[in-house]
Amino acid sequence: MKLASETVVRPARNIRGSVQLPGDKSISHRYAMLAGIAEGPSRLENYSTGADCASTLGCMQALGVKLERQPQQNVIEVQGRGLSLAVPSQPLDCGNSGSTIRMLSGIVAGQPFTSEMLGDESLSRRPMERVIKPLTAMGASIESQEGKPPLRIRGGSLKAIDYKMPVASAQVKTCMLFAGLFADGETRVEESVRTRDHGEVALRAFGVQLQRKSLGAGSEVRIRGGQRLRGIEARVPGDLSSAAFFLCAAALFPESELTVPDLLMNPTRARLLDILMQMGVRISVTQLEEINGELVGSLQVGGGNLSGATIAGADSAALIDEIPVLAAIAPFMEKGIEVRDAKELRVKESDRIASVATNLRKMGAEVEEREDGLKIQGRQPLHGAQLDSFGDHRIAMAFSIAALKADGETLIEGAESAAISYPAFFQTLDALCER
Ligand code: S3P
Repeated sequence: MKLASETVVRPARNIRGSVQLPGDKSISHRYAMLAGIAEGPSRLENYSTGADCASTLGCMQALGVKLERQPQQNVIEVQGRGLSLAVPSQPLDCGNSGSTIRMLSGIVAGQPFTSEMLGDESLSRRPMERVIKPLTAMGASIESQEGKPPLRIRGGSLKAIDYKMPVASAQVKTCMLFAGLFADGETRVEESVRTRDHGEVALRAFGVQLQRKSLGAGSEVRIRGGQRLRGIEARVPGDLSSAAFFLCAAALFPESELTVPDLLMNPTRARLLDILMQMGVRISVTQLEEINGELVGSLQVGGGNLSGATIAGADSAALIDEIPVLAAIAPFMEKGIEVRDAKELRVKESDRIASVATNLRKMGAEVEEREDGLKIQGRQPLHGAQLDSFGDHRIAMAFSIAALKADGETLIEGAESAAISYPAFFQTLDALCER
């Protein structure tokens, strides 16, 4: 297997070994942004190695934040500026990262200057109305390309609002809470379905007070403006959404044995573990501890017979980044997978419903593609094929896992997109495969 624009994945016999994951992407983004607006230095260990989190660092530097990166240990040292950032001398380049543009827009909306935020071709197609609307209601003035990037955000004094999010999105929730730090009064954000809570947990780690309450299947968070943040020393736990590829690989082989130490276990992210266990995968968790409010543990995984699953409602939001890999291995399950209520997949780095369906069909599977999901029958053999990553890191990685149990070699075009979240992915997978 080589890491180039095309990568060939050969079938495997088994998965065995231990894998140390790069720092969680969602947490790395939030820590870097909050460290920049905190008072005093922060030291972030095991910061994500992905290109997306490097985009966040680049944007913070453009906003006047001094930081140093020690690449060997993935440690970032940040000199916080407090709540006042510097006028950027160039547009803030968010690259491929929806998290960067959406969450950081909440911070620049609170600055008394104009920032331009842009990104690559994929990011330029992604919907930003979801942050433009509430930030405008708070008093920011935002120009966009019909709701898409580039964004021109004229920030200033914001007023607190009470906002019920129409889409289940942790990026939007975090954006609103970050903007709430700069607002006059108390900002309230309500979500009807619970999404990952790393924004809330990270704000508390940086010394911010906020109130959280469960509301049925959802939650509300309230935050008072004007609070000061203090720098932290933290270690970012291993990325569960990156681990998902190896967990699914291990799930495919009855004899597999995989250990994943130092892994994020935040309950708003760990739904994949329940789903895999319900399907028959052997999973045990040891050494559970809480670090800076985040649950971390060590995972042991062994395969079994995969039954199948239906993912719908709140599960679709909770598993949004893991659905591509679950769908890619669905043909190897007894009953396959049905995904509903997951329309958001259509506006990720690629249209992930279409990307999954296209690649599975190329491998010989029958797939029912729906507006908000997919239905894939189990017990369908896959054959090696020439696939497209569609420039989407999770599609490249998901299909390298399906390829492990396919008949023949699979070629993945644009496999280098894995570097968006996990540059060492293909080498790591290769080392875990017994052939
Ligand atoms: C993320 C939230 C999710 C997820 C993305 C990271 C986050 O996006 O797909 O990879 O860190 O908050 P949405 O909030 O848009 O669903």
